[in-house]
Amino acid sequence: MTQNVTLALETSCDETSAAVVSDGRTILANIISSQIPTHQKFGGVVPEIASRKHIENVIPVIDQALTAAGTTLADVNAIGVTYGPGLVGALLVGVATAKTLAFALNKPLIGVNHLEGHIFANFLAHRELKPPFVALVVSGGHTSLIHLKDYNDLELLGQTRDDAAGEAFDKIARVMNFPYPGGPHIDKTAREGNPEAIAFPRAFNVLEGENRFAFSFSGLKSAVLNYLNSAGQRKEEISIPDVAASFQAAVVDVLVRKTIDAAEYTGTSKIVLAGGVAANSSLQDKLTAEAAKRGLSLYYPPAVLCTDNAAMIACRAYYQFLAGDFADLNLNAVPALKL
Ligand code: KG4
Ligand code: ZN
Repeated sequence: MTQNVTLALETSCDETSAAVVSDGRTILANIISSQIPTHQKFGGVVPEIASRKHIENVIPVIDQALTAAGTTLADVNAIGVTYGPGLVGALLVGVATAKTLAFALNKPLIGVNHLEGHIFANFLAHRELKPPFVALVVSGGHTSLIHLKDYNDLELLGQTRDDAAGEAFDKIARVMNFPYPGGPHIDKTAREGNPEAIAFPRAFNVLEGENRFAFSFSGLKSAVLNYLNSAGQRKEEISIPDVAASFQAAVVDVLVRKTIDAAEYTGTSKIVLAGGVAANSSLQDKLTAEAAKRGLSLYYPPAVLCTDNAAMIACRAYYQFLAGDFADLNLNAVPALKL
């Protein structure tokens, strides 16, 4: 088969990224321009500023990716782009740019679901990995369990009913005065704390039966905020490492138990972690231990492929390319895109 070179764009949130991937699995370039320093002073992503930054960054990032890959636009066989879910203004920058390139170059356009992209990051990191498997996608916007039966056959088993796991990490971190995004700071601080110091709630009992694979983190978030407020009012000393460790343990317990349950339910022997929170060291350690006990294999990407990047979008686009799943120039941003 002749080589396929996919150029992909990712602009769904606060990273402007362009990547060039060959045959779906080999990264030739993956340029990520992060806006984190810009949004940090606001404590979170400001959508209007994100859109403007994407407009400034998108063409330079594409240029850098092509140069780093040693390719030109003439070598590109397909254009992939994230069209949802995400911030509408941010998504539109990537979608409009990808449509322009596809039209000008007369190359196929492929619209990619951001969540699916996160899962496919694992195909870049683990060349031997093949479906079927169960994937836990945990990011700032999503907490979902997915059964990937084949490259183009994905079934949603369950998802969060309120906050995403990463969102809970970021909100709790914010009240503890860590900079945005707070997930990595909680991860680091938790290493010095006692995970059993404070018994924060785990939403197991309300999410059974048909909600077996659903998640809820808003109750946990409120419990941590209440703990911090009431201890503050009583002028009790608060151990930030203990709060971080106990909060993280509550999140990780639920994620691990439901993911193992999903693997057993689907009868798969492989578990895949994806999304920004997949970089969490406690989640990786606990899931590694629980998977090993049951003879299940666990895969997760290196940190740079856990958070938002265009290489994962190019990988997803490649498998859609093989299936003939093309978009046309009517492709639009879909902020609440479902699986
Ligand atoms: O996948 P991602 O880059 O963006 C979304 O699609 O949402 O994920 C970003 C999220 C943020 O909430 C960030 O705090 C979280 O991933 N995150 C972590 C860690 N690294 C990133 N959360 C916990 N522990 C980490 N080590
Ligand atoms: Zn993401």
